Amino acid sequence: MFQDDFVWGVASSAYQVEGTDAEDGRGRTVWDKFVEEGNIYENQNARTSCDHMHRYKSDYALMRNLGIKAYRFSINWARILPEGTGPVNEKAIAMYRDMILTMKKNGITPYLTMFHWEFPQALQEKGGWLNEDVVEWFGEYAKVVAENFSDICENFITINEPQCVVGLGHLRGAQAPGLKLSVPETFQIAHNLLKAHGKAVINLRKYAKQEIKVGFAPTGGVAYPYTDSKEDIGAAKKVYFGFYNPMDNWTWNISWFSDPVFLGHYPKEGLEKFKEYLPVITKEDMELIHQPLDFMGQNIYNGYYVRAGKDGEPEFVDRAPGFPRTANNWPITPRAFYYGIKFLTERYPLPLYITENGMACHDTVGSDGRVHDTDRINFLDSYIGAMQKAYEEGANIKGYFLWTFLDNFEWTEGYKDRFGIVYVDFQTQRRIVKDSALWYQKVMETNGESLSMNQTTKEILFLNPVCTHNIWGGTRLREDFGYPVEGNDLGECWGISAHPNGDGTLRDCSYQGWKLSELWEKHPEIFGNVESDRFPLLIKIIDAKDDLSIQVHPNDAYAKEHENGSLGKMECWYILDCKENATIVIGHNAKTKEELRQMIEEGRWSDFIREVPIKKGDFLQIDPGTVHAIKGGTLILETQQNSDITYRVYDYDRLSNGKPRELHIEKSIDVITVPAKSVADSVKSAENLPVNQLNELYACQYYHVYKMEVSGSMSFEQDKPFFNMTVTEGDGIVNGQPVKKGDHFILPNGFGTVELQGEMQIIASTI
Ligand code: GAL
Repeated sequence: MFQDDFVWGVASSAYQVEGTDAEDGRGRTVWDKFVEEGNIYENQNARTSCDHMHRYKSDYALMRNLGIKAYRFSINWARILPEGTGPVNEKAIAMYRDMILTMKKNGITPYLTMFHWEFPQALQEKGGWLNEDVVEWFGEYAKVVAENFSDICENFITINEPQCVVGLGHLRGAQAPGLKLSVPETFQIAHNLLKAHGKAVINLRKYAKQEIKVGFAPTGGVAYPYTDSKEDIGAAKKVYFGFYNPMDNWTWNISWFSDPVFLGHYPKEGLEKFKEYLPVITKEDMELIHQPLDFMGQNIYNGYYVRAGKDGEPEFVDRAPGFPRTANNWPITPRAFYYGIKFLTERYPLPLYITENGMACHDTVGSDGRVHDTDRINFLDSYIGAMQKAYEEGANIKGYFLWTFLDNFEWTEGYKDRFGIVYVDFQTQRRIVKDSALWYQKVMETNGESLSMNQTTKEILFLNPVCTHNIWGGTRLREDFGYPVEGNDLGECWGISAHPNGDGTLRDCSYQGWKLSELWEKHPEIFGNVESDRFPLLIKIIDAKDDLSIQVHPNDAYAKEHENGSLGKMECWYILDCKENATIVIGHNAKTKEELRQMIEEGRWSDFIREVPIKKGDFLQIDPGTVHAIKGGTLILETQQNSDITYRVYDYDRLSNGKPRELHIEKSIDVITVPAKSVADSVKSAENLPVNQLNELYACQYYHVYKMEVSGSMSFEQDKPFFNMTVTEGDGIVNGQPVKKGDHFILPNGFGTVELQGEMQIIASTI
């Protein structure tokens, strides 16, 4: 979880939410012009947007009610200085002061961004960012900001996303002022912008009325590793801080903007690569740019895969078809968020604030009048979870500002995509709190504890079984159950097992690829924190093509002493299939230990062995000490203690690889119960039980075993520490997951209601 003083907030920008009013006295910005020139989706504009300038009081009250304690907002340079420099518009000062005071009255800490893209048009006409005077212009603006707001606001950010200002605004012409300048001109602009940042930091501090904190908020997609291998991580980092874009897109990088500001120099690799395009860069320039800062901001939305290629050089990797995306088509990449935070905090010495992160959705209002934005919740849950992981691994991260509070004017995309956690009806200006806002409220309130990464999983945990080869095995595990295993001697499928001799692998869930034993160790809460040093049960399907040896198992006490601390083996069988007139060996006919020893030593097997008839659907309980053997042609679902100890008494004198298999006569005689339990106590029919309910077949200190015949639909409450299930016939759906014969899965602790549909038979177990 996050530290107590972790800053949880929301972010926005002036142009996107404020709106305008005829009397406000503001000056024009490059965005006003760009919008008027028809560059926006459906010719929309930001004249009203969320009308926040007239509604901030109720907007901040809503923030307070949602438990939002920090707000990153921006002020409009040209609203304050209509000409960019010179006379101050007092109405703007009054409005922003009142905004800040109202935030504070509502318990919200202001984080003020000076420049979120509204460059004054008057200054644009004097050359804009390309004119070196911009350093002084922005410095003057910073002085006005400090003089007017620093008594009531302590946190300042100079510039938002310089990459976009230079790249989208001046190189590609995709955003205001819509210019397509030459590459050298854009390097001049970038340099001027960084110097203007430095000058602003100086003036903010110089004219501040109290001690203030100042940061910078760049952006950039994250190059993140395709796998977590050292090589791929190295390759990703190289790209993240390197220069892999073509020159007509050069601004998309991290280090050209962040190295000078946070480290005091341009990156060597960039100076080399860009040398023919660069302006004169002096030592004084670098000192100006490299002002002491209190924090580093970074806006992160997504990333792209990189791996180490064959020659060790980074290689870009395509995303798989169907890769998840947001409404504005950005990929959903929580791992990129994790790696971005790690890489940035490794390279730069300042504490990090995520100054923006969020998701565009095509939200709609439901028939209940609410906005159920589950996609956004999933997005935020995975991203903030990724941030927690980085934080817990030591990343110096201090805060997170969700983009954004209100649906708003998304620049050239107008109102097409909604980024807010509060829905805005742009016709009526009505606000509706989306589900994601209520969800975020919980996260803030619990400092992240409510994130699903801190909760026990509610997912169904599917397992890939492990199959074994045995001299008596057959082909039904492949042919009837579909397990992809070769061979005509497939004896056992260890369907739910954490035993070292056949540890199952999780599939189709967030623990994909984990061994069950690993999950048991690292996440005991998934199994209800049961006190046991290992996953206690083992579920098998056994296909006996030929007879199995006559055998017996020890109990816990005997196994502990003689088998290296192993568990004993209590087990039970459900007969999935068998031949007509089939039999099974269970128990023996010796009346005393003496007789038992004699029968075994003299090989009087027909006297010794007790064979009983069985049929499909029978259930047999086999206590430790019970002589038993499965006969050829029988298919069984076995539920047992997690142990692999078997004592072979007799193996029909068969050879395996030319040799008889080992027998364990002395240990067998030690553990066999004399006299054996009655047949009636050992075998019962479990056929024709009521459908659509949990039928308990057996309960003992080690396990409870159930049978379900689903026909149509049924449900029950999973209130056990965990619940094992194997589909033994048919197919259906369990809580939205299609399942079929041969599937093994575990329902974790706290799973709640289990909803089953279809036509299928399930054997289930718990402890
Ligand atoms: C950022 C920008 C914000 C916002 C967000 C979503 O680039 O700073 O103003 O629009 O992206 O697109």
